[in-house]
Amino acid sequence: MYSRRVAAIKSVSVIGAGLMGSGIAQVAAQADYKVTMVDQTDAALQNGKNIIQKSIERVARKKFADDKDKQQAFINKALDNITLSTDSLAAAQSDLIVEAIVENIDVKQKLFAGLDKAASKDTIFASNTSSLPITAIASATTAERQTRFAGLHFFNPVPAMKLVEIIRTATLTDAVYQDLVDFSIKTGKTPVECKDTPGFIVNRLLVPYMMEAFRILDRGEASAKDIDTAMKLGAGMPMGPIELADFVGLDTTKFIVDGWAKEGRIEPALVQPSKTLEDLVAKGHLGRKSGKGFYDYSK
Ligand code: 3HC
Repeated sequence: MYSRRVAAIKSVSVIGAGLMGSGIAQVAAQADYKVTMVDQTDAALQNGKNIIQKSIERVARKKFADDKDKQQAFINKALDNITLSTDSLAAAQSDLIVEAIVENIDVKQKLFAGLDKAASKDTIFASNTSSLPITAIASATTAERQTRFAGLHFFNPVPAMKLVEIIRTATLTDAVYQDLVDFSIKTGKTPVECKDTPGFIVNRLLVPYMMEAFRILDRGEASAKDIDTAMKLGAGMPMGPIELADFVGLDTTKFIVDGWAKEGRIEPALVQPSKTLEDLVAKGHLGRKSGKGFYDYSK
């Protein structure tokens, strides 16, 4: 009978060294887990390491405002916990594997099918997907692994956002669910539980809200700046919906909406396309990461 408890999770592998993967690796390393961060190339790993370096300096400055030695000791300790690898099977040695790679079901299934063969039977598998059903990804693994397979959905920027959604499939055991709760708390996050549904909780609410903001633009009813100002000052949001979409990535937002529309599991009115969004993505204006989205970040 499977009965892993939190003390048993000592090591974590994060597959994918992008913005989300490097953030997850960082918060796990700060919480003193031994972390292996895996990506396909050394360049991708170096990019992830650079993201972590900048972010962890910020965290350290905040944590130990007046003590440079303590800042440096905190940084060194966390960075020492991180090992880099271009071999995805290196991840198989960890107690918990969190995947944060491209949002493509075939690629994710192939990765997990390989890991399933290489990993110990006790290893917990998790995906940080924001748009694909966990059950479908997990179906590439054995029935036994599916009892240890969950969604673990972090938010951008991971070191600053305090939430983790734990996606509880019908096959996940209570013991593994509890291990993921404990892991989330140890990394400084507050976990919430959700069934394996489109968008889980946050994106289910956030994405239709952003889409309606784009449609206000489509209809010429208000400017981007005024929509953002309205939601920041009138509804207390830290960012307005348009700047948030640029922050998340317009391709990511479109990918989520298109996926939902295709699956047909969500109210059609909520996933009606926006012409402004379609045009920006077609031009490669993907938000902050490409220097331009709804707003211009090139200057
Ligand atoms: N690393 C470490 N710490 C960071 C950080 C980073 N990359 N970015 C921000 N922080 C910390 C800062 O140190 C600061 O901490 P403090 O308040 O304790 O001093 C705090 O976060 C606020 O940062 P700033 O003062 O620099 O800037 P803001 O007050 O403007 O906050 C923000 C920036 C946290 C990004 C805020 O604007 C915000 O919360 N925006 C909304 C973000 C959001 O909604 N994210 C979720 C997107 S949806 C998603 O990710 C799901 C996916 O599936 C699509």
